[in-house]
Amino acid sequence: MSLFPKKGKSKEEIAQLIRAKKSTDYNWRNGKLFCSVYDGGDEIQEVVKDAYMLFLSENPVDPTLFPSLRDMETEVVQMSAEMLQGEEAVGTLTTGGTESILLAVKTAKNRAKLLHPEITQPEIILPYTVHSAFFKACDYFDIKPIITGLTEEYKADPEAIQKAITPNTIMIAASAPSYVFGVVDPIAEIGKIAEAHDLPFHVDACIGGIVLSFNRIGNLPETPSFDFSNNGVTSISMDWHKYGYAAKGCSVLMHVNRDYRKFQFFVCTEWTGYTLVNPTILSTKSGGPIAGCWAAIQYLGMDGYVQLSKDQMATTKKIIKGINAIEDLYVMGKPEVSLLSFTSDSISVYDLMDAMVDRGWFLQFQLSSDYSKANLHMTIAKAHKETADQFLLDLAEAVKQVQKKSLLKKVGSKATVKTAVALANNLSPDNFNKLGKLLGFSNGKVPETFATVNEIMDTLPDATVKNTLLEYFNDFYTYKEKR
Ligand SMILES: Cc1ncc(COP(=O)(O)O)c(C=O)c1O
Repeated sequence: MSLFPKKGKSKEEIAQLIRAKKSTDYNWRNGKLFCSVYDGGDEIQEVVKDAYMLFLSENPVDPTLFPSLRDMETEVVQMSAEMLQGEEAVGTLTTGGTESILLAVKTAKNRAKLLHPEITQPEIILPYTVHSAFFKACDYFDIKPIITGLTEEYKADPEAIQKAITPNTIMIAASAPSYVFGVVDPIAEIGKIAEAHDLPFHVDACIGGIVLSFNRIGNLPETPSFDFSNNGVTSISMDWHKYGYAAKGCSVLMHVNRDYRKFQFFVCTEWTGYTLVNPTILSTKSGGPIAGCWAAIQYLGMDGYVQLSKDQMATTKKIIKGINAIEDLYVMGKPEVSLLSFTSDSISVYDLMDAMVDRGWFLQFQLSSDYSKANLHMTIAKAHKETADQFLLDLAEAVKQVQKKSLLKKVGSKATVKTAVALANNLSPDNFNKLGKLLGFSNGKVPETFATVNEIMDTLPDATVKNTLLEYFNDFYTYKEKR
């Protein structure tokens, strides 16, 4: 039977059906979610939604038809340039951090193509904690990632970057801050290296650029410098759809000047259709995110953002202090923006994550790496000011629960882990089904608990994890009757 409805439904019927679907989702409005959604409260949401809906169908692909979108975009970009202290800086709005990063890498590649045609296998230098979007860019654009090490504070190591430069290097990247630990890489030092080698230097400030800028503007002590005031920085990505509280689908990619931005644009004269000049990857898109972002800025204003950033930093400090006061836990490094990760030397953070999910909290699990133990990650937004105390109380309780049951649980899960590892290491379709049944993810289900799944992922080699995830998501994104 076809899934496609033969006859259209009424507005009311559709609203009912779609709400029923939505009822299965996580309710992020409770201030208990620490990733994926930036909850700025109902009022800002309303303002953004109204502006977004006004431009839902308008298409910025042709700015001559919708000059208001061009105006709002260039205004947001100019305000971003002011925040980032780039006197000659220009930019474009993109659909998110990933698109901004893809374009920053594409810009460097096109620049190298013109200035260094002798480079046949371009390389970019990526400190260990850069966001996965850089690896995606390497995959899409056939660039070799050269990964460099970290200092003890989990920051990019400038000496390692210097050593990694070869005649094939086309760009250096760093984070302000890294998503993983919330610490800002030494931008000034890396900028000097980039400048000395005439290399583009991209600062990924996707998650932290807005908070850092307003902390500087609000004179918050110890705000690290990361923007165009550092020599050598040639581009910066900053996401308005994160701490800017704009709607999803809005980031800005800024270049130090117009000469750099030219390498970002794509002009097509080869095809026989309409003239196409695309500043960004997408062509047709909704004007909603541009209008929503512009409206968010008008609503909050400089004072609003300074206050929000201050509040978020205060909540983060409170949570850091509270976590460090729990005997079994500690925060990793010294977070400089409103995000953090914590771990334990004595209890299982895999189990702790499940114990927190039982209490309605959702944190993000980060696997162990060459530089860090498995840990739990939190992105702290406006809404968490109200819930931070309860979070710390529940966390302390969850730790006690894990302390009590960890001995019992380990004996039980060891056999499961061993079987699962053996199946994943030999992933035939039959073994994939068995693995799904064992871990509770068969038929596109999301496992009810994650401790064992995370423990297994942490045990397996990267290639096996990749392969298993690929199989799982290939299944997950298939219509349920066809799985
Ligand atoms: C530092 C950093 N860079 C890039 C990104 C990717 O942004 P997006 O999810 O908007 O594509 C993120 C997302 O959290 C991030 O934290």
